[in-house]
Amino acid sequence: PQPLVIAPSILSADFSRLGEEVEAIDAAGADWIHCDVMDGHFVPNISFGPDVIKAIRPRTKKVFDVHLMIAPVDPYLEAFAKAGADVITVHAEAGPHLDRSLQAIRNLGKKAGATICPATPENVLANVLDRLDLILVMSVNPGFGGQQFISSQLDKIRRIRAMIGERPIRLEVDGGVNVETAAQVAAAGADTVVAGAAVFKGGTQSAYATNIAAIRAA
Ligand code: DX5
Ligand code: ZN
Repeated sequence: PQPLVIAPSILSADFSRLGEEVEAIDAAGADWIHCDVMDGHFVPNISFGPDVIKAIRPRTKKVFDVHLMIAPVDPYLEAFAKAGADVITVHAEAGPHLDRSLQAIRNLGKKAGATICPATPENVLANVLDRLDLILVMSVNPGFGGQQFISSQLDKIRRIRAMIGERPIRLEVDGGVNVETAAQVAAAGADTVVAGAAVFKGGTQSAYATNIAAIRAA
């Protein structure tokens, strides 16, 4: 099997030193940098926007995996593309026009992702598979880091893996991923995992390296 891609979520970083934190997770072995954008409307929390992403973009060459928990989303896609996102993922629940959002992301020259909350059935993605580079399964209700993994999502991950078939679509899982749950989601068919609390615990680059290595070994 392909090696698991690990995408630490900077939502759990020390925001007062965000540039250094990005450099630390890069050096600690992060594959991608996961950026959680929250608007206080689609989700009950506010995080950061495109200017923050633009400011940290020069600190690493790694893939910027931008998870937009905002509604409406279409008016902001260009700003996130210009800020340096490589993958832009939108919520199927954020509006009635997922197909349009995915087309817009690819028209901006970026990889297009779609994500679904724990309660949303995967069939909302069945008619947009050709427009997708990535599917993100939320294994917590979006809005906060450090929540508990919702185990019912494991069956959904298996079903989405089957739905993807031979298509070149990454399958990423986000929320409550730690050493134990990483093994479960990888066994269910995920090839990419987001981890916030489990990577940033310890607060130093050497702790991050240990934490990332432990998830990888799982
Ligand atoms: C939740 C975010 C996640 C979250 C992951 O709304 O999309 O990326 O911060 O954090 P942990 O790994 O701590 O659940
Ligand atoms: Zn996320």
